[in-house]
Amino acid sequence: MVNVGVIGYGYWGPNLVRNFMQMPQSNLLVCCDLSPDNLKKVKLLYLDVSVTQEVDDLLNNPSIDAVVVASSAVTHYEIAKKALLAKKHVMVEKPLTLSSDTARDLINIADKEGLTLMVGHLLEYHPAVEFVKGLIKSGELGDILYLYTQRLNLGQVRKDENALWSLAPHDISIIFYLLGDKEPVEVSARGESYITDGVEDVVFCSISCTDKVMAHIHVSWLDPHKTRKLTVVGNKKMAVFDDMESAEKVRIYDKGVGADPDYKLYGEDLTLRFGDITIPSIKMREPLRAECEHFIESIETGKRPRSDGFDGLRVVKVLEAAQKSLKSGGKPIKVAEV
Ligand SMILES: NC(=O)c1ccc[n+]([C@@H]2O[C@H](COP(=O)([O-])OP(=O)(O)OC[C@H]3O[C@@H](n4cnc5c(N)ncnc54)[C@H](O)[C@@H]3O)[C@@H](O)[C@H]2O)c1
Repeated sequence: MVNVGVIGYGYWGPNLVRNFMQMPQSNLLVCCDLSPDNLKKVKLLYLDVSVTQEVDDLLNNPSIDAVVVASSAVTHYEIAKKALLAKKHVMVEKPLTLSSDTARDLINIADKEGLTLMVGHLLEYHPAVEFVKGLIKSGELGDILYLYTQRLNLGQVRKDENALWSLAPHDISIIFYLLGDKEPVEVSARGESYITDGVEDVVFCSISCTDKVMAHIHVSWLDPHKTRKLTVVGNKKMAVFDDMESAEKVRIYDKGVGADPDYKLYGEDLTLRFGDITIPSIKMREPLRAECEHFIESIETGKRPRSDGFDGLRVVKVLEAAQKSLKSGGKPIKVAEV
């Protein structure tokens, strides 16, 4: 049994609290938030959970083994660092921090102290994303040529961070989870702020990866469609993950372009292949439950979590490069140079 404390009970914190309360492997002891109103809400639902407005109260509690940081992104580094130095295992919501230097610092502290550091890259725990990962690993899609994601909606408009930092961590984490050993090389991003001055509501971001793989991310909270989609194009087959579909979340398209020697007779050397479209049956479960269970399991086994500090760092590096590009009108930025 791992004793957990959650910091941040705003929009997302309640989902984490619910999961750690319901899981038999964890025991939620304390919830911390700056807002007394939010803490009242905790007490209404969970009588036995202690509440505090002071992060230090929670961190000084010797019964707490693990801390979940679900406060606003700007506070992640300071709170996570304090928690690691207080010898607590830490799970931080995405993005891990707002700079690669601070992300590296957290990784170093966690490693030195022998503690688990995990990032809440939720979609790496989505059964449909795991399924697509399986397709790629098995070679069914062939070599991955390019992929693109769309994360669009009208709202939730944020004023303290742009659509890139708020939404794209999900897409960047899925892309590199799926691509395995391929790494981001260069990023170019363009966006515009229409609602709040200086806060981009819509961003188009292109990432060149190793082995000529290309990834493109479109994020926006100023869009008529609610879209959560990933398209992966391989040289054998293509796959689409549509998270807005209630049941048929993944479609596999046996489509591609091949070279057919017979057609050469007619002066053609390329054929378009329009094969079957398959909708696999995928057993669904709440991705957040899987993520929370993975955190507890990583603490118990001492194994590095799937979304560990390095995974968090890679996402932050891409975000930093994209932010730099955004501010320079789309100039390509080398990820290694940010
Ligand atoms: N995984 C997901 O799908 C997902 C979805 C939404 C948000 N998030 C992430 O969760 C985090 C929180 O986002 P949110 O939408 O809940 O934000 P929010 O602003 O609604 O909530 C943040 C809460 O943290 C509290 N807080 C801030 N500083 C604090 C401090 N120093 N000590 C204690 N409490 C403090 C605030 O009072 C607030 O209640 C962000 O990192 C965000 O990116 C993840």
